[in-house]
Amino acid sequence: MKFLIFIVSERDSTPPRPARLGVRVARACERRLAENGADFATIDPLQIDLPSPFKPQFSYAKGKAPAELDALAEQIKEADGYVMVSPEYNHSMSPALAHLLNHFGSSLFSYKPSAIVTYSAGQWGGARAAVNMRTFLSELGCLPVSSMVHVPRAQEVFDDLGTYPETVDAARWDTYLDRTFKQLLWWSAAAERQRAAGSVAAPEAFVKSPTQRNAPD
Ligand SMILES: Cc1cc2nc3c(=O)[nH]c(=O)nc-3n(C[C@H](O)[C@H](O)[C@H](O)COP(=O)(O)O)c2cc1C
Repeated sequence: MKFLIFIVSERDSTPPRPARLGVRVARACERRLAENGADFATIDPLQIDLPSPFKPQFSYAKGKAPAELDALAEQIKEADGYVMVSPEYNHSMSPALAHLLNHFGSSLFSYKPSAIVTYSAGQWGGARAAVNMRTFLSELGCLPVSSMVHVPRAQEVFDDLGTYPETVDAARWDTYLDRTFKQLLWWSAAAERQRAAGSVAAPEAFVKSPTQRNAPD
């Protein structure tokens, strides 16, 4: 099983301190996925030169999209599931997550599960961001598993390497993270078997126009 972890924390500003708290949370996710026997790659939006003005990968003529977009599209297509690590900004998911994922068509994500991991420097751990992530990820076709990870005061829970300071109950946190990741592994294994068996045909992807989704007139 191969997973993509999306960091989507682009902030280079203090306060609030520390910046890019999401990197710590993503490191912790990498560690738990590895300890659960899963393979993964981590996607960092700072490493990707997205086209400006906005132009999604699927709207380029075949072979004309920037190589970086094509490469990420291939990674998304090949992955068995996704871990979306997002901060909460103004009670919403990271705009960087929406912007990055909006570059790719839902057919690349469909029929594979996702895990929602949110964090904040405050006491709610990004729970309100998670609510709109469910809608967003469902529309992309990578349905989120029911368990979620929310990390309040993430700066106190994880150090720079995503490991726990002594003040934190590491075993409890690992168990908490694993609940979501074990669901992700369960669903991704089930989806992979179903894709391989091909016993139930998936409906055709909408690739021509958003109007293909419309109810009949
Ligand atoms: C523009 C902005 C909006 C924020 N809104 C919220 C919020 O709605 N709820 C919350 O708990 N924290 C909020 N915070 C604080 C973040 O949880 C904290 O800064 C965190 O470190 C952000 O993640 P990052 O460092 O990966 O960017 C906000 C921070 C910023 C910069």
